[in-house]
Amino acid sequence: MKVPSNLVRDIRKYYCEQLCSVYDNDEANAMILILLEHYFNITRIKMALEPDMRLSESEMLTFHFAVKDLLKNKPIQYIIGETEFCDLKFKVNENVLIPRPETSELVMKIINSQQPTANSQQLILDIGTGSGCIAISLAKQIPNSKVYALDISEKALEVAKGNAINNDTDVTFIHDDILNLKNNIEIEFDIIVSNPPYVRELEKAEMRDNVLDWEPHNALFVSDNDPLIFYRNILEFAKSHLKENGEIWFEINEYLGKEMADLCKEYGFSDVEIFKDFRGKERIVKVNKTT
Ligand SMILES: C[S@@+](CC[C@H](N)C(=O)[O-])C[C@H]1O[C@@H](n2cnc3c(N)ncnc32)[C@H](O)[C@@H]1O
Repeated sequence: MKVPSNLVRDIRKYYCEQLCSVYDNDEANAMILILLEHYFNITRIKMALEPDMRLSESEMLTFHFAVKDLLKNKPIQYIIGETEFCDLKFKVNENVLIPRPETSELVMKIINSQQPTANSQQLILDIGTGSGCIAISLAKQIPNSKVYALDISEKALEVAKGNAINNDTDVTFIHDDILNLKNNIEIEFDIIVSNPPYVRELEKAEMRDNVLDWEPHNALFVSDNDPLIFYRNILEFAKSHLKENGEIWFEINEYLGKEMADLCKEYGFSDVEIFKDFRGKERIVKVNKTT
């Protein structure tokens, strides 16, 4: 470490310059501020009020190793171990995908589409729950809901269970493979939601190193030959596990909107809507089960 002093303002400048070898200046600066606040509760305002604030030796080491990880492209959410989603805090580690803003749009759409008059319990299933971000946000925001969340990864489910407790929600977790279910799920749901793996191998070239090197590949990728495999299995499951007038909500690959609409129709769901996300990409599908 060649930091000129233990003054926070010097540390900030020094490490920001280091990070600029990998990130642009704004991004580097934002990351430094996140680390200072997360580890030492030092905010921008505090720095302005106390310009001579210093870090201890052990604090400097903590900071140094966090920046070292950033230089290796490790996402800052994994370094600090948490992220925000739909105004809630979620713990994350390398066993779960970092929740994305487009997924929070999906959740908000589901919440906003619910009728406030619904008295009966809403049974909801989230397939491929990861950190539990969708399931837990829905449980928090939809009164009278009973939420179930399924994932193939036991390690992801551990994270999701912790997040449910931390956010004071009661979600039932199921360890299973949606492509080959072992549990006999004898429930008809009002809502089935899923953000399954949907990135084709051929799209890897478009992805940033921080995603490719650090996020779980079983949460992201599907084969080029059968990119809709998860949706096909979920639609098949929904035929027998979704109530009349129930809804399926999917996050989808932005390049496969038309194929998704055709697939839903092939499985007998003719009432299909596709929505664009805030980037103008076709990303959210809503399917209504009607007779
Ligand atoms: C794209 S991530 C979505 C995570 C989280 N729902 C979110 O939106 O951030 C897909 C999730 O599906 C899970 N998954 C992958 N294959 C699965 C399978 N065959 N059955 C059930 N879950 C699976 C992964 O473990 C991962 O947590």
